[in-house]
Amino acid sequence: MEANMSKRKEPGRSLRIKVISMGNAEVGKSCIIKRYCEKRFVSKYLATIGIDYGVTKVHVRDREIKVNIFDMAGHPFFYEVRNEFYKDTQGVILVYDVGQKDSFDALDAWLAEMKQELGPHGNMENIIFVVCANKIDCTKHRCVDESEGRLWAESKGFLYFETSAQTGEGINEMFQTFYVSIVDLCENGGKRPTTNSSASFTKEQADAIRRIRNSKDSWDMLGVKPGASRDEVNKAYRKLAVLLHPDKCVAPGSEDAFKAVVNARTALLKNIK
Ligand code: GTP
Ligand code: MG
Repeated sequence: MEANMSKRKEPGRSLRIKVISMGNAEVGKSCIIKRYCEKRFVSKYLATIGIDYGVTKVHVRDREIKVNIFDMAGHPFFYEVRNEFYKDTQGVILVYDVGQKDSFDALDAWLAEMKQELGPHGNMENIIFVVCANKIDCTKHRCVDESEGRLWAESKGFLYFETSAQTGEGINEMFQTFYVSIVDLCENGGKRPTTNSSASFTKEQADAIRRIRNSKDSWDMLGVKPGASRDEVNKAYRKLAVLLHPDKCVAPGSEDAFKAVVNARTALLKNIK
């Protein structure tokens, strides 16, 4: 009895946390969790009905962590079931399918649903979010590229991982980093350590990259009216070049955006007298 007692972990060192999964139906939330906990992949789609609950133990540094995982159903039909599970959460696994643009676009709506359910006193600042760009094994159907996903995640201060529940790529790394971040948060009195709380690029840079990516032509890309003068084009170009120059900007996708702006200016100036 005595011997067993001494082998036990110090009770003060163990920690209990709550983690939830969020994201549209069929993006792979349950498979990601299954891949990590059971080391297997199920190719047949078995929709989660309401909520699946599981407990797992992990070790971070010298601490034993009991993780309560609430795997949510993504289908809108289950809103009433899942809405009460948002509270008292330390970590969120936010998943989209890289081959389904809708599931990426829906991430904001998922955050909005959580915010609404937490109510006016709920604080999303002190929750660790990890974004999983899932099904990266389906390369043929991919329509949301890494820089677009990473930009969205990092501009919100979220972790970002490319994953495949099918091959297992990225899954262990994702969970490890996720749990370490949650333990860091708990050891910091439940507040996000300041080093993780802000992105290393500005909102203006992130917005410019998104606008450039979605622009319909070269005028639109530079943010000038069709038929603008050489001066106007050059002025708009200089502003964007300073904002997005690879030496100055580390936001995901900035290099491509910068090149696109250079090309847009060249194309426009060719046709302006
Ligand atoms: P709901 O429970 O309805 O919200 O869905 P979910 O997000 O939990 O999706 P689930 O994990 O059940 O996976 C949906 C389908 O996608 C299943 O057929 C899985 O086999 C498949 N799937 C999940 N992850 C991957 C992946 O990384 N690659 C591929 N190719 N298929 C995957
Ligand atoms: Mg599921």
